[in-house]
Amino acid sequence: MATEPAGASATPLAIAVDGPAASGKGTLARRLAAEFGLSHLDTGLTFRAVAAALLNSGSDLEDADAAETAARSIDLDALDRQALSTHAIGEAASRIAVLPGVRAVLAARQRTFATQGSGAVLDGRDIGTVVLPDAAVKLYVTASPSERARRRTAEMSARGEPATYDAVLADLRRRDTRDAERAAAPLAKAADAHLLDTTGMDIETAFREAVGIVERVRAGRA
Ligand code: C5P
Repeated sequence: MATEPAGASATPLAIAVDGPAASGKGTLARRLAAEFGLSHLDTGLTFRAVAAALLNSGSDLEDADAAETAARSIDLDALDRQALSTHAIGEAASRIAVLPGVRAVLAARQRTFATQGSGAVLDGRDIGTVVLPDAAVKLYVTASPSERARRRTAEMSARGEPATYDAVLADLRRRDTRDAERAAAPLAKAADAHLLDTTGMDIETAFREAVGIVERVRAGRA
């Protein structure tokens, strides 16, 4: 066992935030990390970085060996959100995310990230169920498909990307189905996760709700 540095808390605080695309989980996870002084890892970006590496090298997205090699070599501390946010990379990411070997490599690396320093907030699809089943606090953030499509369309338009509501909604539904129905670590609410439905909430309201849940859980365990 490593010796705990003086002054460090005995157990790093791990917060798992899961949910479907455009539910608001990423923004909430980032803000929770800032609020509680924790690191933040958007695990979607780790899948996106693997997909981007395969696309850049011209490898087949079904090439499990190449994908696992990429999963071992990506730098978790230098994930370029801007460069990885394209629709094509998101689509490719959800295809390589079905590969069990890629998931195993990334999950192990995400787990290591969560246990460093004072702890971390990880957001994704399987954090509370597979990556950090013992996380101190688990949130499952969701919103209706129409609300998520409305938000995603607005985000894309703000970035100057062409987006129509109907196409975005169809894309979200396809991605949800693929994420929820895959055999390896499907999108699912952990039995002990707190459900936060952000439909009809602005981000401030959702953030206050999330902080309240974290504080109540921590107070209950203290
Ligand atoms: O959240 P984001 O859209 O960036 O994720 C891209 C894709 O990566 C998702 O559609 C999903 O297939 C996959 N993913 C996953 N498990 C995670 C995070 C993301 O399978 N923990």
